[in-house]
Amino acid sequence: MQLAHQGGAYVLATTGDPARHGEGLRALGADEVLSGPADVTDRVDAVLDQVGGAQLVAAFERLAPHGTLVSVGHSGGDGETFPFGAFSGPAGHDRSVVTFFLMACHDLGPDLTWLAESVAAGRLDPQIAWRGSWKDAPDAVAAMLGRRLHGKAVLDLV
Ligand SMILES: NC(=O)c1ccc[n+]([C@@H]2O[C@H](COP(=O)([O-])OP(=O)(O)OC[C@H]3O[C@@H](n4cnc5c(N)ncnc54)[C@H](OP(=O)(O)O)[C@@H]3O)[C@@H](O)[C@H]2O)c1
Repeated sequence: MQLAHQGGAYVLATTGDPARHGEGLRALGADEVLSGPADVTDRVDAVLDQVGGAQLVAAFERLAPHGTLVSVGHSGGDGETFPFGAFSGPAGHDRSVVTFFLMACHDLGPDLTWLAESVAAGRLDPQIAWRGSWKDAPDAVAAMLGRRLHGKAVLDLV
């Protein structure tokens, strides 16, 4: 979201709880904070989806011609069922769903270096939401699974 904003995109952020997370998401560069793709009225050019299932299907529906949806995660744990007509008609011309798997990416050094430099320079906020001993990792994992931890968890190896 921060990178999209810095690149000049108009950013729509979705969260299950806009009232709670809206202010923070706007501070990071969201132009609008919505509770899901169903609230998006205009067509969009690109989607980064971390949830999958019905949310991915609804987001694909709102993709403009020539748009791309990148499926990054499947936190919802559900499969995707596209309704009849989802891939036909003029409104759906040349749209793509692209998958992504970090561990299959090569030559990440330059990108990671650029990201680390951006964090160090204060241009990117890494959103560390939890920090503690690696012995307390189960607490961080439970908070993530319970959708109470929004951001990164950092474990100290001491
Ligand atoms: N492709 C790759 O190589 C790669 C690499 C790293 C991570 N991932 C994946 O990327 C995803 C995001 O990582 P993360 O650590 O940020 O995941 P996460 O903590 O599981 O979920 C991210 C957000 O998704 C929303 N969410 C979770 N469960 C949901 C559900 N059932 N329905 C609707 N929204 C839900 C929550 O947002 P709200 O509470 O604000 O609604 C949550 O904060 C994960 O699925 C992870 O496996 C993929």
